[in-house]
Amino acid sequence: MFDYDAEMRFYRERLRAASAVRAEDRVLDVGCGGGQTTRDAAADAERGSVLGVDVSERMLEHARRQPMPNVDYLLADAATYTFEPGSFDVCISRFGVMFFDDLVGAFTNLRRALRSGGRLVVLVWQRREENEWARVIPEAIGGTFRDESAFTLGSEDVTRDILTSAGFIDPTFTAVHELLYYGPDAETACANVLALREPQALLAELDPAAAAQAHGALREVLAAHDTGSGVYFESAAWIVTGVTP
Ligand SMILES: C[S@@+](CC[C@H](N)C(=O)[O-])C[C@H]1O[C@@H](n2cnc3c(N)ncnc32)[C@H](O)[C@@H]1O
Repeated sequence: MFDYDAEMRFYRERLRAASAVRAEDRVLDVGCGGGQTTRDAAADAERGSVLGVDVSERMLEHARRQPMPNVDYLLADAATYTFEPGSFDVCISRFGVMFFDDLVGAFTNLRRALRSGGRLVVLVWQRREENEWARVIPEAIGGTFRDESAFTLGSEDVTRDILTSAGFIDPTFTAVHELLYYGPDAETACANVLALREPQALLAELDPAAAAQAHGALREVLAAHDTGSGVYFESAAWIVTGVTP
């Protein structure tokens, strides 16, 4: 299984530093997945609490394997779940807030969950073109990934409008560029990529000869990104912040 925490190792500290969670804070972690950022926030909110929300029970099961006394998890769609109004000081997310169908509606819902003066601090991908991992891997397989949902907040202007429409004031955007880790060597990285849904879907559409060629091309690309101490791709994200009135 793809080790997402390992892939995201450099973004972990970025979010933790930017979110600056204080000891008494009540934190909402949206799309918390396996809970690494939830646990980081809980360590910082030592007299506060953290609620990790995710739509995937499978991810929450993973998160619950490392319990902490000030952490709860909730299986819910963060876009529409009725959180207690004003009940959080900070809302964080590491790449978990781009997938909403109605982005303004979802961010309005999250804004309502924050107290007045509460803070939104989320990591989102910049556009696909800016992200080597998202360009080069489909190119190697010779196709286009159809799911653009990870990049819905890639444009600063569009995202500023979304957040402002949702009622956040003073949205800020900090560009961050980090390497994504795909595995200790090209072979493992290849297995990791092939475990992902989109490469699998692309390969499944090819005839056996074309699929073998695509595998070979993918292996070559991964070998070219093998530094000798791991396979890495460049990536570009935004740390987006906003404050509630
Ligand atoms: C790319 S993963 C990131 C997981 C986690 N934030 C991390 O960094 O390890 C995105 C997560 O967002 C969750 N997600 C997507 N849409 C959601 C929604 N509407 N409400 C809650 N969680 C959602 C997915 O189930 C997935 O676990």
